[in-house]
Amino acid sequence: MTGENVNDTTGDMLRVEDLSVEFRTANGVTRVVDSIDFAVPRGGALGIVGESGSGKSMTSLAIMGLLPKGGTATGSIRFDGKDLLSERESAMRRIRGDRIAMIFQDPLSSLNPYYTVGVQIAEAYRSHRSGVSARAAKKVAVEAMDRVHIHDAARRADHYPHQFSGGMRQRIMIAMALSMEPDLIIADEPTTALDVTVQAQILALLAEIRRDTGAGLILITHDLAVVSEVADRIVVMRGGHLVEKGSVEDVFSDPQHEYTRRLLDAVPRIDDEIGELRTTAIPVVAEEEKR
Ligand SMILES: Nc1ncnc2c1ncn2[C@@H]1O[C@H](COP(=O)(O)OP(=O)(O)O)[C@@H](O)[C@H]1O
Ligand SMILES: [Mg+2]
Repeated sequence: MTGENVNDTTGDMLRVEDLSVEFRTANGVTRVVDSIDFAVPRGGALGIVGESGSGKSMTSLAIMGLLPKGGTATGSIRFDGKDLLSERESAMRRIRGDRIAMIFQDPLSSLNPYYTVGVQIAEAYRSHRSGVSARAAKKVAVEAMDRVHIHDAARRADHYPHQFSGGMRQRIMIAMALSMEPDLIIADEPTTALDVTVQAQILALLAEIRRDTGAGLILITHDLAVVSEVADRIVVMRGGHLVEKGSVEDVFSDPQHEYTRRLLDAVPRIDDEIGELRTTAIPVVAEEEKR
């Protein structure tokens, strides 16, 4: 695919409508995502922003069909016309990895310390492509590592996760996602654990991948500055609610909601602080419904 038409909006690849996520607890039902709507056009990049606890991860896990025990999603999540919320687990397993890939904040928890990274990328690839030899899969793994700019990929593929820095491990996770040629990549706080310089490099890599492969991207972050680097549309969440959405230009130049304005005000401070929006942190307002 050429990189020309990545912003083509002839059809939404992902359309989330009236999505709610609830957990059943001893005190009743807690709604952690409350009737949110958004869409990602084919090849588009959406940033989901909000402070810790606002429901960003639960939104992405609902899309992947990976909500923790006790969590239920209602509404609709249409991906390429299919409603993911009514797909069987076997179909979801195929969609995950194969069509929608997910990258998490902490690559170490997704990598097995006892296998080389090359073997792990290759085996992940083989688990989604039947009949591929170990040798062919290894070649795919090395190519993917090369595409995320890991120097000397053929040799590095034989190294173990602990032999890489945090930024390099995140590149390996991105390589693993890329090897599947997904239509959509969901990255949940992929740079939060990294220092500022490495953070910028990983964001640049995500932008490059999006341009070169035409894959759509959902970038989840608590950091508005991160969104402006990569995304073209933005959703702002707070306490499970969607407070604002729009193009990055519109939201940054003319935020409609007081909460978004406060997040924006905190952006310049990120450079000298640790990258947390602590200064504007507001307690999570999770709705409790007694049953
Ligand atoms: N297993 C669970 N049971 C009940 N509530 C949960 C569970 N996991 C997360 N939550 C709650 O859901 C809310 C949203 O969490 P999350 O989506 O992880 O926030 P974010 O990713 O924006 O930081 C939080 O208030 C959190 O406490
Ligand atoms: Mg989260």
